[in-house]
Amino acid sequence: MRILVIGGGGREHAIAKALTKNVAVEQIWMAPGNGGTENFCENVPIAATDLQGILKFCLENQPDFVVVTPDDPLALGMVDLLEDNGFQCFGPTKAAARLEWSKNYAKEFMAKYHIPTASYHLCLNAAEAAEYVKTCPVPVVLKMDGLAAGKGVVVCKTREEAVKAQKTLCKGKEDQQVLFEEMLTGPEVSVLCFTDGETIVPMPAAQDHKRAFDGDEGPNTGGMGAYSPVSDYTPAMADVCMHEIFLPTIQGMQQEGHPFKGVLYVSLMLTVDGPKVIEYNARFGDPETQVVLPLLTSDLLNIMIACRAGRLARARVKFLDTSSACVVMASGGYPGSYEKGKVIRGLDEAAKYGTIYHAGTQRRPDGTFVTSGGRVLCVSSLGRSLRQALKNCYKGVEYISFDGAFYRKDIGSKDASISKED
Ligand code: AMP
Ligand code: GLY
Repeated sequence: MRILVIGGGGREHAIAKALTKNVAVEQIWMAPGNGGTENFCENVPIAATDLQGILKFCLENQPDFVVVTPDDPLALGMVDLLEDNGFQCFGPTKAAARLEWSKNYAKEFMAKYHIPTASYHLCLNAAEAAEYVKTCPVPVVLKMDGLAAGKGVVVCKTREEAVKAQKTLCKGKEDQQVLFEEMLTGPEVSVLCFTDGETIVPMPAAQDHKRAFDGDEGPNTGGMGAYSPVSDYTPAMADVCMHEIFLPTIQGMQQEGHPFKGVLYVSLMLTVDGPKVIEYNARFGDPETQVVLPLLTSDLLNIMIACRAGRLARARVKFLDTSSACVVMASGGYPGSYEKGKVIRGLDEAAKYGTIYHAGTQRRPDGTFVTSGGRVLCVSSLGRSLRQALKNCYKGVEYISFDGAFYRKDIGSKDASISKED
């Protein structure tokens, strides 16, 4: 089989790597891929959002299967376009992916199907939001509708913060809708689930670390590290989530006439009143994928094909019972501006302690790598315990260096299994 994977982050590197385990896979193209995927895939210089460019490539090269993971192409309807042209894809249609690309749609959907989530108030534009923010209950969370790469959400403890956040968020977006949400508290977990629209199979729960610096300080990023499984997400909690959240979600989407096929990523807050949905994503998470897929012992390609064909109930989906962790190394200045082109050293030594998934890297003709993005790479390791997995990751990270590199030193440190051992 010849497969095209859309995207070029650490997530796509991990997906491509998992796909190579299937002996039927002869060729993987990545559009656009990264320095790390160039080692075992053929990178094609087409942007993930260039729908016509991707279609043209498919018509010329006839891939047997296309994996669409980033949020923008899904929201733009890449799966619809390619399927309409006879190409088999893994990923939801534009209408199903709306659970991610419209926060308001997701909120209305959850209300209709009684799926637990934070209560909210919708303002249709900036003027309405400016009025509502004067009297809304605080603390409050402000969210802009639409995709915003994690930058469209501000958690506000006080009214002053809320007033300021409203002004900043709505600037230049006067006609966009704004959600005001009740602030939830509790541990946050990401549950990525395979689904064929009818059957839903959750992967082990993961926790992302979105803030740039230790102690959850600094600005929000794409994610600075993750681990799996998460102690707070007990089997009993998983059972509640399955019956109150996961099944009602896919059944609801079926009833809406938009069966969801692909990965449904449910972001949850485990509150004292039970688990509540923070948001849905219509895809694999980054960096969650880099810790969850290394635990998968079954064949990823077969699972993806089963999801598309509506036969997930008969597919084998098994995971290792061990721990997995990853630590992201980023360019100095990220998530703000940063320099590129820094030489990356120590990759071979680091690889003894885990798998290195590239994101913002470029491969030079001599086989060495330079930085080309904010999140540069991550080291992902397994271990008998979370502590062991983290130890392996950080050993690997210590070998890698590039000018301005930084990483968080406290990934996974708040998990109950770690504090118990201390
Ligand atoms: P989102 O882009 O919706 O995932 O939001 C980004 C981050 O904001 C989440 O990972 C949470 O940490 C936080 N957040 C979002 N909604 C809420 C909420 N209702 N209560 C508390 N924190 C929230
Ligand atoms: N880990 C956050 C995301 O993929 O959206």
